[in-house]
Amino acid sequence: MAVDSMHLREMEPEDGSEVAELIYASINAWYGLRGLGQPFQGSPKVTEIFHEVYSATGSSRCVVAENARTGRLMGSCFYHPRKTHVGLGIMTVHPNYFGFGAGSRLLEYICRFTDGNGYKALRLTQSALNLDSFSLYNRYGFVPRQAYQDMLLQVPESGLDHEVPGLDRIRDATLDDVPAMAALEMEVSGVSREEDYRLCIGNDLGFWSVSVCEGSGGNLEGFLASSSHPAFNMLGPGVIRTEEQAAALIHTELDRHRGRTPVFLVPVDRYGLVRQMYDWGARNCELHFCQVRGRFQPYQGINMPTFVLETA
Ligand SMILES: CC(C)(COP(=O)(O)OP(=O)(O)OC[C@H]1O[C@@H](n2cnc3c(N)ncnc32)[C@H](O)[C@@H]1OP(=O)(O)O)[C@@H](O)C(=O)NCCC(=O)NCCS
Repeated sequence: MAVDSMHLREMEPEDGSEVAELIYASINAWYGLRGLGQPFQGSPKVTEIFHEVYSATGSSRCVVAENARTGRLMGSCFYHPRKTHVGLGIMTVHPNYFGFGAGSRLLEYICRFTDGNGYKALRLTQSALNLDSFSLYNRYGFVPRQAYQDMLLQVPESGLDHEVPGLDRIRDATLDDVPAMAALEMEVSGVSREEDYRLCIGNDLGFWSVSVCEGSGGNLEGFLASSSHPAFNMLGPGVIRTEEQAAALIHTELDRHRGRTPVFLVPVDRYGLVRQMYDWGARNCELHFCQVRGRFQPYQGINMPTFVLETA
């Protein structure tokens, strides 16, 4: 039987709870069907956070695929126009409609937006375990540029107590750091997104924290945010020059999550850092790719992406 037709439109504020339900159902069904557990726990209230965070950036948008017959949503995809590029995520199709072309239609829409507005790159973070999304993005011209291992670390209630060089160079970020953070990310990753850093440091949503690492001259050498929200208890975004500085920032941000088990993405080719995380007790739980359609500058340092404020 032919699937119902769909029409695409921009998300309206009143779609918020339905988009949250869609994200919850889609991701949990995809992982659940493969015996990989259910990433979101509780109720679709936890996934309302995507809309809340992206609304707070002031520039993010979301396209939805509406069932022309029922008016219900078949899929949605957030996208984030930034100074240097467009970020994409989170993309979800309702499990009733997997494989019927909704994902392709949503992606086409965002590619058209990107190209039509003169952006040179569309970027996202994609699970390397997910051949469906890999194939979808790959067919539209995305190329994997960096692999990450997702590491989980159980932080004791009493905190972490490893000997880590450079901890004395870490401090809390302030809004005055934002221009230097943007300049560092431009140098290391070739992208810029000041609005994301302002959101994390301003912390109006109440679950972000951000640390920075200073060089001997007081210059900014790295930064790392983390989120304690139950739908994404994770470290990132972060941009750091060296592995030693990355370890000090990771240690500092992990220590803010006592009694919890945050996840963080480490570039697979930074084996010294990976090894150190194993020594601290970290375990791998998934793999992700930085995927880019269009212009890409190889990283000149360490990039640690997140799934919300996603840019890889
Ligand atoms: C990933 C997801 C969004 C795909 O959406 P979808 O509507 O099912 O995908 P589509 O039906 O548009 O198919 C995608 C394309 O990939 C192609 N494809 C699928 N599997 C493929 C494979 N193994 N090799 C090559 N191409 C493949 C399809 O043929 C289709 O291309 P076509 O339209 O040119 O024929 C959907 O499965 C989903 O919501 N999954 C759960 C949430 C998720 O994983 N989100 C992504 C987060 S990174």
